[in-house]
Amino acid sequence: MRILLLGKNGQVGSELQLTLAPLGELIAWDIRELDLSQTARIRDSLWNVQPDVIVNPAAYTAVDRAEKEPDLARAVNAEAPRVLAEVAVEMGAALIHFSTDYVFDGSKGKPYAEEDAPNPINVYGRTKLDGERAVQQTEGAYLILRTSWVYSLRYDSFPTRVLGWARRQEVMRIVEDQVGSPTWSRMLAELTAELLSDAGMSVFDWIEERSGVYHLAGLGEVSRFEWAKAVLNFDPKKDEQIVREIQPARSDEFPAPARRPAYSALNCGHFTDLFGRQLPTWKESLQLAMEEI
Ligand SMILES: NC(=O)c1ccc[n+]([C@@H]2O[C@H](COP(=O)([O-])OP(=O)(O)OC[C@H]3O[C@@H](n4cnc5c(N)ncnc54)[C@H](OP(=O)(O)O)[C@@H]3O)[C@@H](O)[C@H]2O)c1
Repeated sequence: MRILLLGKNGQVGSELQLTLAPLGELIAWDIRELDLSQTARIRDSLWNVQPDVIVNPAAYTAVDRAEKEPDLARAVNAEAPRVLAEVAVEMGAALIHFSTDYVFDGSKGKPYAEEDAPNPINVYGRTKLDGERAVQQTEGAYLILRTSWVYSLRYDSFPTRVLGWARRQEVMRIVEDQVGSPTWSRMLAELTAELLSDAGMSVFDWIEERSGVYHLAGLGEVSRFEWAKAVLNFDPKKDEQIVREIQPARSDEFPAPARRPAYSALNCGHFTDLFGRQLPTWKESLQLAMEEI
């Protein structure tokens, strides 16, 4: 199987480099090999490689900056996936594309299922939703894996920020009015590789039979406040913490250019049913992830 991985240096992409390598010939690119905002270049680049499957965790993920750079966010998150999906169809390749819980407005108050109506409330979410729709419209062989609150302990992410604050501040204020499903980037990468391993050489047919949007995130839900407390609890270097008190805060105390959904936990039942996979809870994954630091 020839696999083309885009965004190889991101939180998810870097893990996918490791998990996809044993499955066949892996060609891994970052923005230097293919800048997805240059949509006119995508077709030739893909045809030069002619992969059996394209795995695309690359995205414009700067949620606040996207409010000021909507055209760039749209090019990478909506236009590029459209071209990737179109060229995949031309080449007979399958596409695995990642999307976000931020396609929802956060008003449901219960875990979102795939059939819930999206209603993004920021530029990032709108562009990602348009990317999903563009992929769906090509009617090729595709999986759109919608995930949520992705973190890696090797990147600037919510857990690494919390660990940093706890080493510099005696009092921390963390918002408790945002609830979601934290997802370890490695879990996403391992499950993606397992799907491709199940698909085997008939990857196009296998994915075509299952084409659709699937929610895939750490099981359960938690506020950022409780998530931060869990991070500090699992910190293997607790003696380095100087924090004495963690106080719950409200999002409006930290004004940001982009609005965030107050609630965006995902119901992953379709994924576990169809692909026969048991997902770890967000807390189990966090504990494993923290053992590595
Ligand atoms: N992070 C989250 O909390 C979260 C939540 C839900 C869903 N998701 C989705 O999950 C997927 C993976 O996210 P992630 O957390 O791994 O994101 P990430 O760490 O920001 O990685 C994104 C990657 O895309 C690359 N990229 C950005 N612009 C590009 C361009 N014009 N051309 C080519 N590559 C470009 C980045 O390259 P550079 O490093 O060079 O910029 C980076 O390697 C994305 O689809 C994202 O929308 C993420």
